[in-house]
Amino acid sequence: MLVLMFLLSRKITASPTTEAEVLVKWKNSLLYTPFLNSWSLSNIHNLCSTWDAVVCDKTTNTTVSEIYLSGFDLSGTLHGFDFASLPNLTHLDLNDNSFYGSIPPQIGSLSKLIFLDFGSNNFTGTVPYEIGHLRELEYLSFNNNSFNGAIPHQVISLPKVWYLDFGGNYFASPPHWSDYSCMPSLTYLDLSFNSFTPEFPSFIMKCHNLTFLDLSFNYFNGTIPESLYTNLVKLQFLNLSYCEMEGPLSSNLSKLSNLKELRMGNNNFSGVLPPNLCSGMMLSILAVNNNSFSGIFPNSLRNCLTLTTIRLDGNHFSGNITEALGVYPSLAY
Ligand SMILES: *[C@@H]1O[C@H](CO)[C@@H](O)[C@H](O)[C@H]1NC(C)=O
Ligand SMILES: *[C@@H]1O[C@H](CO)[C@@H](O)[C@H](O)[C@H]1NC(C)=O
Ligand SMILES: *[C@@H]1O[C@H](CO)[C@@H](O)[C@H](O)[C@H]1NC(C)=O
Ligand SMILES: *[C@@H]1O[C@H](CO)[C@@H](O)[C@H](O)[C@H]1NC(C)=O
Ligand SMILES: *[C@@H]1O[C@H](CO)[C@@H](O)[C@H](O)[C@H]1NC(C)=O
Ligand SMILES: *[C@@H]1O[C@H](CO)[C@@H](O)[C@H](O)[C@H]1NC(C)=O
Ligand SMILES: *[C@@H]1O[C@H](CO)[C@@H](O)[C@H](O)[C@H]1NC(C)=O
Ligand SMILES: *[C@@H]1O[C@H](CO)[C@@H](O)[C@H](O)[C@H]1NC(C)=O
Ligand SMILES: *[C@@H]1O[C@H](CO)[C@@H](O)[C@H](O)[C@H]1NC(C)=O
Ligand SMILES: *[C@@H]1O[C@H](CO)[C@@H](O)[C@H](O)[C@H]1NC(C)=O
Repeated sequence: MLVLMFLLSRKITASPTTEAEVLVKWKNSLLYTPFLNSWSLSNIHNLCSTWDAVVCDKTTNTTVSEIYLSGFDLSGTLHGFDFASLPNLTHLDLNDNSFYGSIPPQIGSLSKLIFLDFGSNNFTGTVPYEIGHLRELEYLSFNNNSFNGAIPHQVISLPKVWYLDFGGNYFASPPHWSDYSCMPSLTYLDLSFNSFTPEFPSFIMKCHNLTFLDLSFNYFNGTIPESLYTNLVKLQFLNLSYCEMEGPLSSNLSKLSNLKELRMGNNNFSGVLPPNLCSGMMLSILAVNNNSFSGIFPNSLRNCLTLTTIRLDGNHFSGNITEALGVYPSLAY
């Protein structure tokens, strides 16, 4: 009973001291912490003033709100991290360390989290669906880890996220993409270098505010859904390189009038290039190299006056390329 009361009172008197103890406990659970000498029990009362990588709440200056450990050369897991004891955390940046193991589902208790970056570590396992409880999240990167399984649909439908980077993992397609809806605020989506196959993720067609979409290095074996050209009209950057896709390119491509960079090299797209390619567009990069395109270089290429880079090699085009292109202001082949 005494022990229980002690635990209760500890919980009630949440304070920077408790948070400092929680962080020291986590630090002590890690294998390697070369740059965290300031995180120590002897320095426990200076959490908000002298601790490296820790920022306290600007108004109260008593509770930890931001932790920035990017590039701190840390090694270890998150299993000693008491998420529930850091309820005021808004930013957690662990990018570019050597963390490994799975993400504990308790991360879902960080209900004020806005920024979460676990990129460039070696986290494994599946992403806990509890990430979907982080309703304030705006920026989420798990880029360049070893996650696998399907991305939980709860994570894809977070209401405030604008930046989502799950590239460079072993994520696979879920049984049904139809269970997924897009977060309406999303503008940046990177799913490159994963194991998505074969169906094109249909939820992306509902991400009407996307400006950046990178799906390169996956295994979609079909054609580009026609709805992409009408639903994603804000796209500026589209990368479908190395996706094992096929079929002809639709003339509706030119509806993507905001497109600046279009990379679709190293697939098996075929047919002729759309005769209206570039009309009404401001493309600076066009890469369709290493596909099965054929036909004469279309004169429409003369409309691509804003191009700085074009890759047409590795296809079955015929005709004179310099004649087709005309004189470009600033073109590199
Ligand atoms: C926060 O409090 C510490 C002492 O606990 C003080 O040294 C520091 O200057 C304060 N910072 C701000 C921004 O008020
Ligand atoms: C979180 O912030 C609130 C409001 O500033 C404060 O009352 C509470 O004690 C803080 N929690 C912890 C664990 O410091
Ligand atoms: C991936 O992460 C490792 C560290 O875990 C880093 O060395 C490497 O540069 C990262 N690669 C990319 C492409 O960011
Ligand atoms: C990441 O972890 C997996 C599984 O533990 C391991 O097989 C792989 O070698 C690790 N990769 C790196 C870059 O450490
Ligand atoms: C989509 O973008 C428009 C304009 O940029 C913005 O007004 C709108 O609020 C955005 N939608 C959401 C759900 O964020
Ligand atoms: C795509 O792959 C799936 C299975 O991996 C196969 O059933 C389907 O026929 C393929 N479609 C095309 C167009 O190759
Ligand atoms: C895909 O293309 C985009 C836009 O051109 C670019 O920023 C990105 O780095 C490319 N992705 C890869 C994996 O090269
Ligand atoms: C282009 O889009 C329109 C609808 O916006 C559709 O009717 C037409 O079939 C599409 N063109 C092709 C080649 O699919
Ligand atoms: C052409 O694309 C295929 C499929 O992605 C790839 O395996 C091959 O290496 C590429 N060839 C060249 C010359 O880039
Ligand atoms: C690419 O597509 C063409 C027809 O469009 C087909 O004949 C060829 O077999 C395909 N190549 C590969 C590697 O799938």
